[in-house]
Amino acid sequence: MRFERSHTRKAVALAVAGSLVLLASACGGDDGSKGDTGGAAAGALEGRGPITFATGKDTSGFLPKQVAAWNADHPTEKVEVKELPENANDQRQQMVQNAQNQSDAFSVLNMDVVWTSEFAANKWILQLPEDKFPDLDKLVPATVETAKYRDKLYAVPITSDGGLLYYRKDLLDQAGAKVPTTWDEMLAACLAVQSKVPAAKGMGCYAGQFEKYEGLTVNFSEAVNSAGGVIVDKDGKPNVDTPEALAGLEELTKGFQSGAIPKAAITYKEEEGRRAFQEGKLLFHRNWPYVYAKASATDGSSKIVGKFGVAALPGKTGPGVSSLGGHDYAISAFAKNKATAVDFINFMASEARQKANIQATSQAPTWASLYDDPALTSQFPYLAPLKASILGAQPRPRVVKYNDVTTAIQEAAYSALSNKTPPKQALTDLQTKLSSLITQ
Ligand code: GLC
Repeated sequence: MRFERSHTRKAVALAVAGSLVLLASACGGDDGSKGDTGGAAAGALEGRGPITFATGKDTSGFLPKQVAAWNADHPTEKVEVKELPENANDQRQQMVQNAQNQSDAFSVLNMDVVWTSEFAANKWILQLPEDKFPDLDKLVPATVETAKYRDKLYAVPITSDGGLLYYRKDLLDQAGAKVPTTWDEMLAACLAVQSKVPAAKGMGCYAGQFEKYEGLTVNFSEAVNSAGGVIVDKDGKPNVDTPEALAGLEELTKGFQSGAIPKAAITYKEEEGRRAFQEGKLLFHRNWPYVYAKASATDGSSKIVGKFGVAALPGKTGPGVSSLGGHDYAISAFAKNKATAVDFINFMASEARQKANIQATSQAPTWASLYDDPALTSQFPYLAPLKASILGAQPRPRVVKYNDVTTAIQEAAYSALSNKTPPKQALTDLQTKLSSLITQ
């Protein structure tokens, strides 16, 4: 496998591997399941016929083409897309409701990587026999881990996600500033651009996703990890009340206080931030790879075509650490026509479909060799930083009570960013909360 961890990321990778194992085992006593395998058994996965595919809003416009390609070849097993809201929290809400009603309305679920443990432990999704998914060993191993609960497979990773720093190359060049690798360098570059380039007057320095939802958990975790802190340590225990975590959170709170992060960013989810960057309102922007295609669109929707570059997220003393994002396809425990669902998942996981998807949408594939595909690497310069971002990425806590954990993180981070709670106090409170939620 060419998708190996780079040397500089090794320490992080090892720490991550350690915390994964321990967190997974921590779930044993902490997840409310009854001491059995914790999920719905694989069963026969039988039945053919029409199915549905529940997925967050398709902002790329490409999903209908993928589904049409499937439907053309499977006239009696057509897939109907059930489009859910744009933000991760609302998508989860609808899927949970559907599962609690034991409804068969959703057959295949497009799940955020952070939901696997909760959905598997509650038996809302089926355990999947690995031998029915022949391409699994072609996928980036860390992405396959996100689809497992207690070492068993519950989904198949179709897209990955790693945070990237988008920057205005044209303006940095005009100011003679270099691409930053640290927060301090980023802020210095911003000052240089603002003082030397008249066209940059009034632009914000930086924004990520700071609205109170899953994206804030991502941005907070990245700030903490990029400053050398952790949310949970390698033993799976919360350890967020530390000087390192404080340094990370303070990059964000100070950014808001100084105005380097524009006030409006407290309302940004992915799309609001992307639009601000594309409209030329931001010099630096943290977002996922899908933004590359959108910001490069030549239909007039982007004002920055050819003017931006992509780099690693900034850290305290060098490049930062991304949160591992992405989406895995699972089969609802209440679905009809499960054999069709398996085939549709394999179709979407295939190299051909993943390649078509990255070419149209710039979303991160899970198929490892695509990151080294010469046709793609020459067309998409963001693939090298993306590969590094995903390889060095930290998973969010893999716990059944993830929704409570992420809600606690969002409340603490939001309270600090909106100046209601001093950062140190927010971390002390968060540590107390997480300690009561993650009890092993
Ligand atoms: C992206 C990521 C997902 C993350 C979400 C947060 O969709 O793929 O993992 O939770 O953004 O907004």
